[in-house]
Amino acid sequence: MIKVVFIEGDGTTEHVCEGEEGQSLLDVAHKYDINLEGACEGSMACSTCHLYVDETFLKQIPIPSEEEEDMLDLTYGLKANSRLGCQIILNEKLDGIRVHLPVSTRNMLL
Ligand code: FES
Repeated sequence: MIKVVFIEGDGTTEHVCEGEEGQSLLDVAHKYDINLEGACEGSMACSTCHLYVDETFLKQIPIPSEEEEDMLDLTYGLKANSRLGCQIILNEKLDGIRVHLPVSTRNMLL
């Protein structure tokens, strides 16, 4: 199992979760009822799975595709470590990954 820590937007609460290789961060968030919507279920059409990846793990993750970049450009609170949770697929190098949830998201499907 691969450990994933989701940190609430206000930084006060951490949720320690476990996922399997091949699952996305969004899959894990849904399994544990974490507040990460994922309205388009991974088809890169909503950006409601926006999160911030802890800097120490950023280099372990493939750079975002052009489609992911385009969708990230539409999010609130874009930062250098912003990513879409549905596009980050777990592997053993990401064991212990820490991700911060944004305070708010914008649902492009609405
Ligand atoms: S779930 Fe919609 S972009 Fe990730």
